[in-house]
Amino acid sequence: MASLPLSLVQAKEDQFDIVKKRGVLKVGLSADFAPMEFERTVNGKREYAGIDVDLIKKIAKDQNVKLQIVNMSFDSLLGAMKTGKIDMIASGMTPTAEREKEVDFSNNYFSVTQKVIIQKKDKNKFKSLKDFKDVPVSVQKQTTQEELAQKEMPDATLTSLTRTPEVIMSVNTGKTKAAVIDSIVGEAYLTQNPSLTFADVEFNDSKKTTAIAVPKDSPKFLDAINQSIKDAQDKGLIKEYEKKAHKEMFDDASFLSKYGTFFIQGIGATILISIIGVIFGSLIGGIFAFLKLSSSKILKAIAWVYIEFIRGTPLLVQVFLVYFGTTAVLGLDLSAFVCGTLALILNCGAYIAEIIRAGIKAVDKGQMEAARSLGLTHAQSMNKVIMPQAIKNILPALGNEFITVIKESSIVSVIGVSELMFNAQVVQGASFDPFTPLLIAAIAYFVLTFILSRVMNVIERRMSVSD
Ligand code: ARG
Repeated sequence: MASLPLSLVQAKEDQFDIVKKRGVLKVGLSADFAPMEFERTVNGKREYAGIDVDLIKKIAKDQNVKLQIVNMSFDSLLGAMKTGKIDMIASGMTPTAEREKEVDFSNNYFSVTQKVIIQKKDKNKFKSLKDFKDVPVSVQKQTTQEELAQKEMPDATLTSLTRTPEVIMSVNTGKTKAAVIDSIVGEAYLTQNPSLTFADVEFNDSKKTTAIAVPKDSPKFLDAINQSIKDAQDKGLIKEYEKKAHKEMFDDASFLSKYGTFFIQGIGATILISIIGVIFGSLIGGIFAFLKLSSSKILKAIAWVYIEFIRGTPLLVQVFLVYFGTTAVLGLDLSAFVCGTLALILNCGAYIAEIIRAGIKAVDKGQMEAARSLGLTHAQSMNKVIMPQAIKNILPALGNEFITVIKESSIVSVIGVSELMFNAQVVQGASFDPFTPLLIAAIAYFVLTFILSRVMNVIERRMSVSD
């Protein structure tokens, strides 16, 4: 390989020095795990809360650096740390032999047991682990619960889901019959979902702990964190954090007053990234459309590769490629928002290139010949004759692309861009109500796309009148 990824080169420097130099500690977590980490609103302002959150606040304070929390799905955390997106993980993570190959763990600061959540009406059906033979069971992806279920419920049919609320929702709706979860988190969900309960079954290997994960070979960093943990334990702070988290989880304001801002902010962000995606996508699309229509074989080939690659791969993959690629390959430190928007722009660019190319191609060949025979140059014919007609083909298709982008932009939620879908998921986690937030998100997307398609209809009608 010609050049080493930057993260490998940097790995020689103790993470402690990197953080100190930067003055900012970037901590990754998956805020779907109350009371360990979750989001809440205080007077309309969003903030992170939970035991882990209070602990990392202390760590940042002890080191006299600013704290930056990076919220993403649990299964993306280790990758994010490997590529240098975050300095450490504080996300109720359990040290395991498997993970210790990749990262170092701090001392433990919290103990949890593993429980199974089922519907109350099934209480008598599930008395031992053997009763789960051929039963659908949900777990969070890439967690110790997944591992435990594989080991101790080998005959169950496992469904691994990305986020904790989905894991619970699937039991609640009967999609799966049981879920494996950390006790303390399960208890929080039980209080909000009266039809659910813990099954009277015991795992053999049920006692687990949580610790903070840091990049390998950063002894100074690990030491500093362990110091803070020890200090917190000595002063009884962890217990206090726990009490505080429980209070903050269940303050009794109404759903909308608590979570309304999440949806409004989310809608704003979704509109913003979609507009940026379509505008810059149109610029890129225009360029590539002309490259593809040009007479140069090389330019044509470049455009062809770009368009085919983008159209032939899922947006989800592209989002991750940009997110991790910009750091691991290019060594850039871009925010999730920038990466997500960039991926959308690149994605839109390819589709819009095809829209523009097809729009130009659809103009009758005779138009160009006629324009040229009237003495116009090729460029003039393009500008004055072909493009005005092509625009009429292109605009409606662009409108459709815009509608598609609004819906597809929900995919960037996977890297933690806080648009509508992401915020709906945050509310799922914070409210322990997995369904209502989804319903609200669905309605919001629908209203957005419906309005847009009406507007497009009006524009199209105006244009056909001008014919
Ligand atoms: N303790 C489990 C593990 O380490 C689950 C942690 C899940 N954390 C979260 N924030 N969703 O795998």
